Amino acid sequence: MIFFNIDKNDKSAHIYQQIYHELKKSILAHKIPANEKLPSKRKLADTLRVSINSVTNAYEQLIEEGYIYTLERKGYFVENITQFNHRNNTENLQIPSDLKEKEIDREGWLSLSHMTADTSMFPFKEWIKSQNKAIKNHKDELSEISHPQGPYLVRKTIARMIALTRGVVCEPEQIVIGTGTQPLIRQLMQMQINNTKIAVENPGYSRIYSLLRNMKFDVSAVPLDKKGIQVEAIESINPQFLFITPSHQFPTGIIMPISRRIELLNWAALSQNRYIIEDDYDSEFKYGTDNIPSLQSLDRNQRVIYSGTFSKTLLPSLRISYIVLPPDLLRAYRCHYADWIQGSNSLSLFTLHYFIESGEYAKHMKRMNHHYEIKRKALINELQLRFKEDISIKDVPAGLHFLAQLKTTKGYKEIEAKAHLEKLEIYTLRRFMLGSELADTNIIKLVVGFARIENEEITEAVDRLYRIIT
Ligand SMILES: Cc1ncc(COP(=O)(O)O)c(C=O)c1O
Repeated sequence: MIFFNIDKNDKSAHIYQQIYHELKKSILAHKIPANEKLPSKRKLADTLRVSINSVTNAYEQLIEEGYIYTLERKGYFVENITQFNHRNNTENLQIPSDLKEKEIDREGWLSLSHMTADTSMFPFKEWIKSQNKAIKNHKDELSEISHPQGPYLVRKTIARMIALTRGVVCEPEQIVIGTGTQPLIRQLMQMQINNTKIAVENPGYSRIYSLLRNMKFDVSAVPLDKKGIQVEAIESINPQFLFITPSHQFPTGIIMPISRRIELLNWAALSQNRYIIEDDYDSEFKYGTDNIPSLQSLDRNQRVIYSGTFSKTLLPSLRISYIVLPPDLLRAYRCHYADWIQGSNSLSLFTLHYFIESGEYAKHMKRMNHHYEIKRKALINELQLRFKEDISIKDVPAGLHFLAQLKTTKGYKEIEAKAHLEKLEIYTLRRFMLGSELADTNIIKLVVGFARIENEEITEAVDRLYRIIT
């Protein structure tokens, strides 16, 4: 006997949903035994004073989910459902407190982080215009998943652009578009065997270091000298892959001179198994002098994997980055990733294509170079005025951050905790020391980013830093 009521005024559930839920509850609680015949649709509709349609919909949903079955001309019956062999424990379903996230409240914070871009000057109107063109001209492609390396048209545009701006020599076929430098490097390295040796710069890009270590590669953190990564150390480690940032070493800012570049290319050319990954993450920003050609542009032996990103020049949240593979790696990549589904959003990629094609990207770059240069100078000036002889700034006119050394009696951890209290987002060099701790001396090294800070916030940010350091 089926016994429940239907609330016709309940706005939160349709009548058929109420019937479905009540029957499901009774079946799961074994109040209606397995193989018991249910009332006919008409009979249940009459009992509940609802339409036959509502009962039909409820029965159909229960059949779909396997709670009941039907026998031709006999009616509807309850399935024999296996019981859970554990007791319902709703407490177990709650997320443990250490995994709970707090809502981030950025109210009142100022940022001197190197990870950001300035959105105040981003030409959203022009971006939307490019997006409209992408929608108009690529409806068919938007209905499909794209080539595993990203749409050919977009790769062609990127290839043309980096040939002009970075001297990168490549065909569109060699470009792999992805959602970030990390995922692209992971894809590339997943093709390598486990005992592959990799050398990275120290201090360096900690996210790549931890990624490669998590992938169980044999990763060595190689110290720098004033020209960049030390060649003798690389020779003694004998890695197959070298991950470097020659245009603007991250985080120290060293621009690798031509002599070191040639030494590294010569080292790589000695074996078909040696590759240099050139992370060219912020080279578009160069103040006062022209851009420095990429390492890839000097390579005559196809040993350099070039890695670029639109995170600094456009927006980090767009997640558009790419790598350029030498032909031998491209062949291996195509085999390995034949079934790969491209993770980038095709609409953003086609939008990027029109944004570059229309000249808006070049205009934006020109504007931002000028804008960032003004902010960089203003921030350096304010820091020097405030800290006087207690500050030494590595003033490399490139990128979106610089390294500053400050005299202080405080240690790194104390400085980081105080920065949090002062609501100042800033990274210390400690974060980028790979596999080694930075000892507390009476000097603290900071990676100071100037992309996000507004001109009128600079004095306040430096005041906060002063309170943190002194
Ligand atoms: C050293 C370095 N490489 C690459 C990137 C760019 O990463 P992505 O392309 O994933 O945004 C960054 C971003 O901050 C970086 O600091």
